[in-house]
Amino acid sequence: MTIKAIIFDAYGTLFDVHTVVDKCEQFFPGKGRKISEIWRQKQLEYTWLRSLMGRYEDFWSVTHDALIFALKELKVDLNEQIHMTLLDQYLRLNPYPEVPNALEKLKNRKLAILSNGSTDMLNTVVENAGLSHVFTHVISVDELKIYKPFMGVYQLGVAKLWVNKEETLFITSNPWDASGAKTFGFQVCWINRFNKQFDELGVQPNMILKNLDQLVDRL
Ligand code: LAC
Repeated sequence: MTIKAIIFDAYGTLFDVHTVVDKCEQFFPGKGRKISEIWRQKQLEYTWLRSLMGRYEDFWSVTHDALIFALKELKVDLNEQIHMTLLDQYLRLNPYPEVPNALEKLKNRKLAILSNGSTDMLNTVVENAGLSHVFTHVISVDELKIYKPFMGVYQLGVAKLWVNKEETLFITSNPWDASGAKTFGFQVCWINRFNKQFDELGVQPNMILKNLDQLVDRL
């Protein structure tokens, strides 16, 4: 297949959202993993629910609200300073170990991020990971005020990069995002790092790989 551009999802694909576990664990021993899991799940749900309700708030607010839900659900102390310290972790998420080298090797094509993250969040996490130089575009849904998997968001990627969707490979670890991107008409690679089950939404990715090293080998 001809691939002229590669567009990546950010959270969970390039960056490990569970980087936050250590700090959560520090404040709430024994509950770090659980907080992180509820936090991520609610963060995603709130993006979908807000999109359906037409009540967009940016990803920083949604991430904040999802954290509050997780802490309330687990009945742990609510303290504004702790919230801010935990939320700040989202600006310092670790890339998965193979990501920096793999991106260097893929850089002969147009590389972009298309993410639910707000522009500031994305630029900061990319910069903190030392990856700013590899991307030609870092695109946020914030421009449209609606979240993935709204089709217009994938269209925004095409419009910014000036590429055909058929010649664009969309890379994500999130099955719902892979389903959205495939429905839109991208070629899609699902990165299945943790042996998860793909969604039953009537579409399948073109490729299923374990990590970005496998993608480098494949292209
Ligand atoms: C992203 C999240 C939702 O768009 O994974 O980066």
